[in-house]
Parts: sequence; structure tokens; C-alpha cells
Amino acid sequence: MLYIGVDLGTSAVKLLLMDGEGKIEKIVSKEYPIFFPKPGWSEQRPEDWFEQTMEGIRELTAEVDRSQVAGISFGGQMHGLVILDEKDEVIRPALLWNDGRTYEECDYLNKVIGKEKLSEYTANISFTGFTAPKILWVKNKEPENFARISKIMLPKDYIAYKLTGVHCTDMSDASGTLLLDVKKRRWSKEMCDICGITEEMLPKLFESYECVGTVKEEIADRLGIPASVKAAAGAGDNAAAAVGTGTVGEGMCNISLGTSGTVFISSKNFGVDKFNALHAFAHADGNYHLMGCMLSAASCNKWWMEDILDTDAYSEEQKKITKLGENHVFFLPYLMGERSPHNDPDARGTFIGMTMDTSRADMTQAVLEGVAFALRDSLEVAKSLGIKLERTKICGGGAKSPLWKKMIANIMNLKVDVIESEEGPALGGAMLAAVACGEFESVEAAAAKIVKIVETLEPEQELVEKYEARYQQFREIYPVCRPLFEKIR
Ligand code: XUL
Repeated sequence: MLYIGVDLGTSAVKLLLMDGEGKIEKIVSKEYPIFFPKPGWSEQRPEDWFEQTMEGIRELTAEVDRSQVAGISFGGQMHGLVILDEKDEVIRPALLWNDGRTYEECDYLNKVIGKEKLSEYTANISFTGFTAPKILWVKNKEPENFARISKIMLPKDYIAYKLTGVHCTDMSDASGTLLLDVKKRRWSKEMCDICGITEEMLPKLFESYECVGTVKEEIADRLGIPASVKAAAGAGDNAAAAVGTGTVGEGMCNISLGTSGTVFISSKNFGVDKFNALHAFAHADGNYHLMGCMLSAASCNKWWMEDILDTDAYSEEQKKITKLGENHVFFLPYLMGERSPHNDPDARGTFIGMTMDTSRADMTQAVLEGVAFALRDSLEVAKSLGIKLERTKICGGGAKSPLWKKMIANIMNLKVDVIESEEGPALGGAMLAAVACGEFESVEAAAAKIVKIVETLEPEQELVEKYEARYQQFREIYPVCRPLFEKIR
């Protein structure tokens, strides 16, 4: 049988077709626009996601026997607010995970309701990108839209709803709304009241690997697939990526170098970081995870290459980088503000340390290193909680760069296990569909069968030491700039 994994990303939807043995048959990608109506705002049209997903499924299955498609599932950009009216029309463009407009609502949640209460209700505190402050923003700034809300959902849930007609979500993605009692895996009545919504507006909760329903007849006809195709609830893209890299069960780590950058640590037990600097979320394997998320990771490199240097020759540019650990130029990668660990929507991208002999390659190097240093910030929080890690998996577009992977291994001082496929969320989505269809008895069993490590990058002692010294310097830059960022807002 065949399984479709849909990774509803920020720049594109990536679709992957997998057989029952875990062999990847085909991958296609379809782009859609992103809108930045004001600095720090970021929006997309859910209708674009759906149209491109439909187009993608048609292309993905064009050369196979479509009657063999048994299941579909999703990994989706998290936290985005999608609101529908009574007629199921999208009320306004979705506010995305990297949208920083809700700082007033976050202040209200964190300071007036209070971090302690939020943590008690949800295991998390408010960050500008989370869904609850966005609901409050619509309530405060667009009351006419708020009054029309009939259904609230997350980005991938919109696709599931259009395909199956079921208003559903999964525990991992629901965790990022700040409306879920993560420990008890149910919606928080207190948070619904705080946001002025009813639980009926929210999707029904499922585990990621559970079947929510089958595709609607009309959709099956348009796609040429059987109406018996089962949809599994799927997961937030990071939990789906963790499934796709075999980061399941106890104490495993995955680093994602996508538009965002994340350090994801799986756990069998529920646990909260006492400063709430890391997110405490449910995992797609039925357990839990801790996660640090930086808002601009591979997107910093894309911005630097394409918008600033005006080139798409990424690997050519990286070939000019020869002196690892010796760069005295630093880059703060906060192009969309920063989430973990600073929680600062005003933070901005910054180069510092240039001299007359600074070259283009030094600055490219600074961008790649700056992202790795910022990921190390999240790792440091995990270490401070007593979590001991020796190795990590890696995925996302940035993981295609051997140089960047080497920097990660040495800056984080972790062994980096490179797996056969970097297609984290799309592969994870297909695996969740296969579990929902009974191909594997659990997510862990699917990961054990499908995920293969092909190479391990070992940290090199000399480089680790050089980077340790650089990281300590990097850490000092943000606190100095912070008061300035507030002024130049
Ligand atoms: C996670 C987060 C991002 C998005 C990217 O908390 O906001 O990783 O899910 O798609």
C-alpha cells in the first residue's frame, strides 16, 4: 500500500509518497506566497495551502496505481491561526508562527494572567507566535472578524478539514496553541475563557497516529484516489520531523534547520522547564517532548544568499569558508525577533565585529555560525535542566549542507547522526498515516523499521574548543543589544 505525507511548510508544501516498507517513491514541492503586511507580521492564505496541496497530491500520484493509496497524514507549520465562519469560509489570512504582532496580548497573558497560571493551565507561557495571543489580537483589534468565528484550527488541520470534513487536530500541534492542558491532553477551560472562545469552536483532539476519518467522495474523485483513504491526525511539523528522524521514546534529540530552527528532545514523561524557556509539548508518539525554537534558521541563510548576495549558489559560497572557529564576525540571527530562549519580538538581525579585511565568506560563515550558536542557546537551557545528550539527528533544508552540519556538531559538541532522508515532517506524516492504517503497530515500531542512520559526524576536540570560546563571546552580544532593539522598534 502507499502512504502520503504532507509537510505544510512556510515557503512550500512538500509531499512525499512512501510504500509499506518505508521506501520513498516520490517527493514533490509546491510553493505559495507569504505576506509581511507590516514589519514583524507574517500571513498566508489557507486557500493557497489547500490548492497547492491538491495540485501536489495529483502530481505525486501521477505515475502510480492510485487505488493503492491507503493513507494520508500531515506535518504542519505550528501555531498558525486559521478562523472559519459559519459557512466554512476563511475569515482572514492566517497569522503564522513567526508573526510578532501580538506583543501586547502576550504581555497581558504573561503579566496580568501571569506566567504561573498559564504554566499551570497549559505547561507553557505565552510567546507572540502562539495561537492564544493571536485569538486575543483578533478579539482586540478586529472585533468584527472575532464575532464571525465559528471554527478555529491550525494550518495542517485546515487541510485535513477540507479533505475529510472532520474538524480535528492532534496533541502535538494543539500543545502550541496555549489552549491545551498538555499534561492531561485536553483543552483548558480556563484558557478558553481567557480568550473569550468556547470549546465547541476548537477541533476535536486525537493522537497523531489516530485515524480521524476518510477522504470525502468529492475529493477522492478530484484526486482519483479511493474514498477509503484514511487520514491520520498528523502532527506539528517538529513532532512529525521527530517521527521522520526516529526521535521517539526517551531522551532522543533532533535538530531541525528549516525556516525555523529547533532543538527537540523526546521524553516518555511529562516535564516542564521551570523557566518555561523551552516548550513542554505532547509528542506524536503518544508521549511528550521539550523544544527550543528559533524563528529564523535556514531562512537567515536564504535571506543572506538570495536577497543580499543575489545568488543561489549556496554550496559555491560555502566552499570559500576555510577557517572554522576563527571568525571574529558574529551574526545575531533574529530577523523575525526571537522566541527561544529570549522571547523577544523586538530582537533584530545584527552583524558585529567586521574589519577592513572582512570578506564575503566571513559574513556567510557568521550567518551559518550565528544560527548554530542560537540553537546552542536552547541546548544550554536543556543542559541546565539536567538533560544529558551525546548525539542528535538532523533534518530540514539546512541539513543538506555538509559544512553547516559540521558546525552544528562542533558548536553543540554533539555527535550528529545523519539519516538516509532529511525529509523530516513529510516522512513523519507518511509514517503516521501508515500507523493509522495498521501497517505498523506503533510510531516507535515504524521508526525502528524505517529510519536508517547513514553517517555520524563526530565533534573534533580542537574545533570544539575554538567554538566554545566563540560561543561565550556570542552569548554576550544579545544582552548588550537588547535595550537598543527596543528603541529602534
Ligand atoms: C515551532 C515553530 C516552528 C514552526 C515552523 O514552535 O514555531 O518550528 O512550526 O513551521
